[in-house]
Amino acid sequence: MTTTLTIRRPDDWHLHLRDGAMLAAVAPDTARHFGRAMIMPNLVPPVTDVAAASAYRQRILAATKGMDFMPYMTIYLTEDTQIETIKAAAADAMILAVKLYPAGATTNSASGVRDINKVMPQLEAMAEAGLPLAVHGEVTDADVDIFDREKQFIDKVLDPLRRRLPQLRIVMEHITTSDAVDYVRASRDQSSEELTLGATITVHHLMITRNHILAGGIRPHYYCLPVAKRNTHRDALIAAALSGDSRFFMGTDSAPHPDSGKLSPCGCAGIYTAPVAMGCLAQVFDDANSIDALERFVSINGAGFYNLPINSSTLTLIRHNAPIDIMPPIHAGGEAVTVFDPMRSIYWSVAPDTE
Ligand code: NCD
Ligand code: ZN
Repeated sequence: MTTTLTIRRPDDWHLHLRDGAMLAAVAPDTARHFGRAMIMPNLVPPVTDVAAASAYRQRILAATKGMDFMPYMTIYLTEDTQIETIKAAAADAMILAVKLYPAGATTNSASGVRDINKVMPQLEAMAEAGLPLAVHGEVTDADVDIFDREKQFIDKVLDPLRRRLPQLRIVMEHITTSDAVDYVRASRDQSSEELTLGATITVHHLMITRNHILAGGIRPHYYCLPVAKRNTHRDALIAAALSGDSRFFMGTDSAPHPDSGKLSPCGCAGIYTAPVAMGCLAQVFDDANSIDALERFVSINGAGFYNLPINSSTLTLIRHNAPIDIMPPIHAGGEAVTVFDPMRSIYWSVAPDTE
């Protein structure tokens, strides 16, 4: 028997769309399923001011012309970010957050922040203006094990920052550990009207563990940052996503790279999940007998955090009788881009007439 599920149109609160030919190739895949998305600023060069964000937004709108899709932007924080830029970003309804990349933490993060103390005036201005900080939460010290970098960031950077600037609203992006889940859960600021701490969770971190990357052969298409952890951490992420807790919401971190970049002796980090994200997510929730919890995670909680209304349009998902086919690579600028394959049976897909 075929089952269908109709939910409020989902949003993607952490998305990489790139630019040029890649943008043209990938943006429609997101716009078909998601009403809104928060676009990451790690272009080369990065999007560091409001004018660059607005120009980039126009290019995204051109790439999704005629589609029901609203891109929201972020500003890339550097140690040179002007206070005027923070104020202008806070006043622009199309800019939802400022993104903190610790320098060297991930793809295109070289212009990021080396010393958090150097951006304290900017963070204070954001707290004052109510502009959230989206953090890539990993320390970058060469001597910290890559599997410990998220927990160390919480202990050494995030918690001290929150104690110093309790009014600053923070989103921990793409969390990968039970430590991050526990930290968010323990954090509710009871006196505040608004949540001061939230976290996005990706589709792939709800599905894969480090064994998928490393056991039985190395699989570069599963390599992303923060890197997937052991299964106990994945299970904590699933529990958080299913819980309905308004502090946890979906951000795919869909991050397309050409296969030539992924399949090299020093392959780059990022997984292209956008076209299959909704089907995979429905499968995760269904497998946990919690399909009814999907809508909160993907369509309601994130809008609440960013003080936006829930989408009025809907998306319908279909549960098929047999597993659906793996999606072939897409092509961008003459290069193939492999689409995420969770290596397990997926019975769910988006109904074509609601795309
Ligand atoms: C992202 C990218 O490719 O831009 N890569 C990734 O592994 N997630 C950057 C990021 O979000 O870390
Ligand atoms: Zn990302």
